[in-house]
Amino acid sequence: MAHTDVLDLPLVLLSNRGPVSFGRDSAGRTVNRGAGGLVSALSGLAEHLDDAVWVCGAATEEDAVVAREAAGKALHVQTLPVPHLVDSAFGDASADGGSNKPADGPSIKIRIVETDPFAYADFYSVWSNPILWFIQHGLYGRAYSPDFTQAEHEAFENGYAAVNRAYADAVADEVRARGGKALVLLQDYHFYLVAEHVRQQCPDVVLTHFVHIPWPGPDEWRVLPADIRERLLTGLLGSDVVGFHTRRYARNFVLCASELLGLPIDLDAMTINVGDRVVRARYYPISVDPAALDATLASEDVAAHVSMLRYIFLGDDRQLMLRVDRTDPSKNVVRGFQAFRTLLEQHPELVGKVSFLALLQPSRTDVPEYADYIALIGGVVAEINARFTKDGRQPIDLRMVEDFALAIAAYSICDVLVVNAIADGMNLVAKEVAVVNGRGGVLALSETAGAHEELGEHAVTLHPFDLQQMADAFYSALTMPLEERHRRLAAAAEQVRTHDVARWLSDQLADLRRIAGFA
Ligand code: ADP
Ligand code: G6P
Repeated sequence: MAHTDVLDLPLVLLSNRGPVSFGRDSAGRTVNRGAGGLVSALSGLAEHLDDAVWVCGAATEEDAVVAREAAGKALHVQTLPVPHLVDSAFGDASADGGSNKPADGPSIKIRIVETDPFAYADFYSVWSNPILWFIQHGLYGRAYSPDFTQAEHEAFENGYAAVNRAYADAVADEVRARGGKALVLLQDYHFYLVAEHVRQQCPDVVLTHFVHIPWPGPDEWRVLPADIRERLLTGLLGSDVVGFHTRRYARNFVLCASELLGLPIDLDAMTINVGDRVVRARYYPISVDPAALDATLASEDVAAHVSMLRYIFLGDDRQLMLRVDRTDPSKNVVRGFQAFRTLLEQHPELVGKVSFLALLQPSRTDVPEYADYIALIGGVVAEINARFTKDGRQPIDLRMVEDFALAIAAYSICDVLVVNAIADGMNLVAKEVAVVNGRGGVLALSETAGAHEELGEHAVTLHPFDLQQMADAFYSALTMPLEERHRRLAAAAEQVRTHDVARWLSDQLADLRRIAGFA
């Protein structure tokens, strides 16, 4: 049977970044498996089911070529089981639109939606990032919010709304191709209008929308023009279940439905009445795949990086602080370095003894706020390094790279991992470190990261705006007795290993079975 595991329904997934992305090298077309928690979690499910299809955007030029060749049909692509270790395996990406899977290895059926590049730019670089991302991460307040001129309103209509409609049409098409009944799993802040469109076209769907980023309370949403925030909320309420990483986000969502749309809610049951339907807000903390991380940690590539990092940063009682992030203003990189500067000012004995390695992946550089942020980071690092370099050792080693093997190697040997995000839906970096660190590494974790709900009691808590508090917290992490460091780390690792990404998914499916009356 194709789909007995999931409510006895075929599965249609939607996310902006797909499970694979195509490229080109001298040998021809390549297929790279997407990295990250969302892709790993859902790929396993999609590979397992014959009748699953994953609708996604074109992330590369070659993706757009593949989309055009497929002419609106779904195609099978072979994937490889261990993400991150794979960077260039060729899949037999023949557009078949049917069910003839390639014979070898796991495969996944995808449908790439190509949209007008101008509409996509308004959708991604004007509305999704920065406006929605910034509001949801508390980066806009009333004084520093965008102005909503005619240009922003038009970008909403011609970009965000138009692209949402195009993806919704592709999803509805795939649902109809499966007899009009399917489980539809929508992902993230790019697609708040999709659920409503899909439900209008396919009233028999079971529909969930998972929001991977924070959901703030009604007052923060009031920054958005009233008509737009009402449309976004109404769009999401086309779902049966709206999922979040934490209880706080789910509760905020229910409050928004009451305060911004005037709908009847039950805050204890976390339900919203929309006409004759009941929409449920639920929370399921996303996590990592410990087995895949263990496998990566055991690879030769990681071992070589570990030797190099030990040589550069450790020995002679030296210590290593680490951060691994996209260059996103929500990650609060600049304040993290400013707090490190305070630490060195107030504890000069640490100068030359403690290094801060930052592996930063340039992100969303088409968005001016992101490009500017990279310059700000460079400025503060240059200033600190000019002031505190001792015996030829710079206190901060800033590397603008995306290198997962290097990140895993650094995770495994750091003394302190810094996550000082202004807000973060979950933050997988903290969970990855908890699994692979072998040195009693201390998590220094922002109280506003979703991961703090699960790992906060084992971490040293950071207040993202309080530079003195962060400096003190860094000091207490660096000077914590080794036995306590190991005890805290073991407890954090246990929490993550018993609440892995498979559980994130199975808890959702078990709930859905109950909600949809299948269990
Ligand atoms: P976000 O989803 O906002 O980027 P998360 O912490 O939840 O934040 O997930 C980030 C993922 O990307 C993690 O798996 C992390 O290891 C990876 N990552 C972040 N920065 C880098 C980097 N510079 N090089 C390699 N991997 C990175
Ligand atoms: C976060 C979001 C994802 C997004 C990822 C990378 O994790 O929740 O939806 O894909 O960041 O950002 P990008 O803009 O490169 O897709």
